[in-house]
Amino acid sequence: MGEARTYFDSAAADYRKRSERFPWSWIRGREARAVDAAVGSLADRSVLDLGCGAGLYAGRALARGARRVVGVDLVEAMVRNLPPGVEGVVADAASLRLGETFDRVISAGLLEFVPDPVTIFATIEAHLGADGRAAILFPAPLPAVLVYQAFHLSHGVRIRIFNRKAIAALAAGVGMRILDFRIAGPFAGVAALAHI
Ligand SMILES: C[S@@+](CC[C@H](N)C(=O)[O-])C[C@H]1O[C@@H](n2cnc3c(N)ncnc32)[C@H](O)[C@@H]1O
Repeated sequence: MGEARTYFDSAAADYRKRSERFPWSWIRGREARAVDAAVGSLADRSVLDLGCGAGLYAGRALARGARRVVGVDLVEAMVRNLPPGVEGVVADAASLRLGETFDRVISAGLLEFVPDPVTIFATIEAHLGADGRAAILFPAPLPAVLVYQAFHLSHGVRIRIFNRKAIAALAAGVGMRILDFRIAGPFAGVAALAHI
């Protein structure tokens, strides 16, 4: 985790700008549309974005009509770059307990970096309202994932890859289930989750 924090700390200043450049813009556009479909309507909903980075999904949630959006990231420099209107929290999503629940929880591109992915599922479960819906985006076992892995390895960061079975087991371990599972772009999967 230390390596991931160091990498994202150094990447924070122009993280959003870089993700707007090709090929990331194309990849992230496809991923974002899959996350939109997985998380469902955000109109007048409260949204928690875990591992929010510079706020691609948090900002998108506001644009899609969310009434309140809270973005959580380990790296303070990321949280400082959040779009106006997003409430930022600097914290480790693995141990986060805000003491409130949300209609929607989004976690995009976080799971692969944490030492124990179970902790992120436990945080999602703890913050998801009774009828809530969560969407997670993660690297899936597709050929192009090797490029994503190599990119992070070149910055000293090892990432994990998840298949549907692994996501289902992690969800079941915290009393959640998969509502929907789809491939999103060249190397990612998206799962929609709800309480059992
Ligand atoms: C690949 S980026 C994705 C950012 C954003 N979700 C997006 O899609 O643009 C991963 C983010 O997760 C954050 N992160 C990594 N480990 C974390 C943790 N344990 N708790 C909270 N944030 C974490 C990093 O600082 C980084 O901003």
